[in-house]
Amino acid sequence: MNQIEILKDEHEIIERELIELDEIIESEDINYPNLLHVLKNLIKIWDPHEKREESVFKILEKENIKIPVEQMFFGHKKLKKHKDAIIKAIEAGSDYKLKKALHEHGTVISKELREHINFEDEILYTIALEEFTPEELVQLCKDVA
Ligand SMILES: [Fe+2]
Ligand SMILES: [Fe+2]
Repeated sequence: MNQIEILKDEHEIIERELIELDEIIESEDINYPNLLHVLKNLIKIWDPHEKREESVFKILEKENIKIPVEQMFFGHKKLKKHKDAIIKAIEAGSDYKLKKALHEHGTVISKELREHINFEDEILYTIALEEFTPEELVQLCKDVA
């Protein structure tokens, strides 16, 4: 498996967590264990994922593949703000506050991460997979692993 395929696989893992997050946001009673589990998983996978992606972007740039870098470098900072708001609401111990935070911030996390992932899958990774052979990709990404 080359780096691009690994990153795409991780997108699927992230998307599964987002489906779970949506269910938690929409359900009548807040499922605290599930919510904590989803947040933990998202945080655990997102930062290293973005870091490795940035290395791949750099390689693609070096190979003169034009990519919309700024849009790609969205990433963790944006996620962090919304995640922190939800954690603060959990700590406040009020279901009402948490529900409000989930509707305000959880929905943003879910929507923005999905959009970001789709954009990468549809544009960036499609370009990379078209421009390089699988062997070239393995070679190019050796330094990144
Ligand atoms: Fe990304
Ligand atoms: Fe990604």
